[in-house]
Amino acid sequence: MPGLTQPPQAITGPAVAAGPVIAVRDITKTFGETTALHDVSLTIARGEIVVLLGLSGSGKSTLLRHLDGLDRPDTGTVTVLDAPVSRLHGRPLRALRGQVGFVFQQFELVGPLTVLENVLAGALFQMRGPRLGLWGYRRELKLAALGHLDRVGLLTHAYQRADTLSGGQQQRVGIARALMQNPRILLADEPVASLDPESSAQVMALIREIAIDSGLTVVCSLHQVDLALSWGDRIVGLRRGEVVLDTATQGLSKQNMMEIYGRVTTSTAELGAIDTELGTAPDEPDEQGEPDEQGELDLQTFSSARDNRR
Ligand SMILES: Nc1ncnc2c1ncn2[C@@H]1O[C@H](COP(=O)(O)OP(=O)(O)O)[C@@H](O)[C@H]1O
Ligand SMILES: [Mg+2]
Repeated sequence: MPGLTQPPQAITGPAVAAGPVIAVRDITKTFGETTALHDVSLTIARGEIVVLLGLSGSGKSTLLRHLDGLDRPDTGTVTVLDAPVSRLHGRPLRALRGQVGFVFQQFELVGPLTVLENVLAGALFQMRGPRLGLWGYRRELKLAALGHLDRVGLLTHAYQRADTLSGGQQQRVGIARALMQNPRILLADEPVASLDPESSAQVMALIREIAIDSGLTVVCSLHQVDLALSWGDRIVGLRRGEVVLDTATQGLSKQNMMEIYGRVTTSTAELGAIDTELGTAPDEPDEQGEPDEQGELDLQTFSSARDNRR
């Protein structure tokens, strides 16, 4: 077969070969005494599903905010869809942001408004002036919004108040709202940090499905190693504002995974937990999975315990 002898570029196709969708070069960002990002470089190709993984304070949100020009670096450059984001202002910046959807940790819905109105708000950047109620939107936009609600499984909730939905449903509305922009890139900042594990898994699966269907490039921050490993194609680990890891997730061994924990975590308690997982700690946890009070720490509990310490 000719395909087998072709070089990788031929398999990925000309659209990918055209250049990266996101190129971050040597950016450093300080807030007063705090260095939020230090010499960060990152290149992301079209269609990649990338997790930014790191503890609270490691710089994930700051990096995401640089990608749509909400923050500007002290030094270095950010290029998104061939635009020099860090130097854009006004209309060109708004035009770029129109191509970059954003999903927030706290959903950022307007609770008393309907689900449909919240989704429609994602199209506001295309329109002039404020909208009051549903009649302010063109019919095509309403149909598009209903289509996106169908896509996230919430069509029957379109006319319900947003604040009557569960957390997982609200985040699905957040995704539908981001899709209203017909974005080429989707940024998500800890989109499931406020959700229970089951809703988290559903929301992450949905983002992945939509990204693959629509050829979106996704950059999503997470602090849970296990979720990052199961969800992303590539993990970029941040620690204290520096990239300490950049790896594809496919084919990683458990040992590799534990090394990832080692790179993105910092405290001795966390390193102790890694030892426990690897079975190198002095007190081995019970093989049957019966938690012993101090030793056993599964990855999920590990993540939540870490969060609670913030
Ligand atoms: N607007 C800001 N003003 C001052 N410090 C900030 C600001 N934004 C972020 N930081 C600091 O930068 C570091 C990285 O923060 P952030 O990007 O929010 O991390 P993460 O999203 O990984 O939790 C933290 O020390 C944080 O306190
Ligand atoms: Mg953050």
